[in-house]
Amino acid sequence: MTLKTLTEVLAHAEADSYAVGAFNVSDLNQAVAVLRAARQEQSPVIVQAIAGMHPYDDEGWWWDRLRELIESHPTVDAVLHLDHGRTFDDCRRAIEHGFTSVMIDASRDAATDEPADFDANVAATRAVVEHAHPLGVSVEGELGTIGGAEAGVRGIVEDIIFADPAQAAEFVARTGVDALAVAVGTSHGSVKFTTDEQGQRLRIGLIAQIHAGIPGTFLVLHGSSSIPADSVRTINEHGGRLPSSYGIDTEQKQQGIASGIRKINQGTDSHLAWTAALREALDADRTTVEPSAAIGVTIDAMAAAVAQRMREFGSAGRLAVH
Ligand code: 13P
Repeated sequence: MTLKTLTEVLAHAEADSYAVGAFNVSDLNQAVAVLRAARQEQSPVIVQAIAGMHPYDDEGWWWDRLRELIESHPTVDAVLHLDHGRTFDDCRRAIEHGFTSVMIDASRDAATDEPADFDANVAATRAVVEHAHPLGVSVEGELGTIGGAEAGVRGIVEDIIFADPAQAAEFVARTGVDALAVAVGTSHGSVKFTTDEQGQRLRIGLIAQIHAGIPGTFLVLHGSSSIPADSVRTINEHGGRLPSSYGIDTEQKQQGIASGIRKINQGTDSHLAWTAALREALDADRTTVEPSAAIGVTIDAMAAAVAQRMREFGSAGRLAVH
């Protein structure tokens, strides 16, 4: 079987001290790009979709096609993961559609978007674990609050509340989560930090402390796209209006991996590569309306961006998790 659980894939990453990229996809072509990169790089991969973020009429239809697409790549070890499930129902539905891993993000109150009370986060996360584990599905929770914007999930969130190592240990003991997203200085979205200095703010010591306290739980880094300046420049040269921004550079992510990070989420960098290629292609050829060439370059660009991360995270060449 192609589909793996998060636990199966990350156990190998923990043993050999590397991280597996979890790449956000919003449509089937983006999933084609991620799977192509995984096959080319001989890398395990986590394909993740955010609840509610896709262009289709019916989320269940989208999730079924996504699962089938992954299953049609029998040589790739892939996890199908729900990113930022906000409710128990999001997670239950994803499991019904064959997801092998779900994130319940109860770090903020789903109604008010205010940082959630610790006990409320524990209770919501525990309920998902009790449902998912008997079905063989892995669960990721979140502790602390990560800043920035998840389009379609919440608006810009300025406050970052760092994860606390003692609370992380209590959270894991009380919920039984397999993986934990920790707020250690990153921020979601294409506008992260407005100065280079702010971008250098991954709390490496904090990651190491949390890892030491919960060695059996896989640590997850959200919001760590690098925001490559060349993608931003290409987008703006072809009609875009992105403000300049700084992300988390490769060296910091690699220090994070050395300190215990095992899953690294990437949405924005992939989408930047995709959008830059699309804008450039449409600008270069203003008469063709048949879309296959333009869509083709977006797939190529996103596959290249994802493949680069697989090499940087150390997952390239590690396909054999059987
Ligand atoms: P970026 O916006 O930095 O790519 O982070 C994505 C993410 O963490 C999705 O959960």
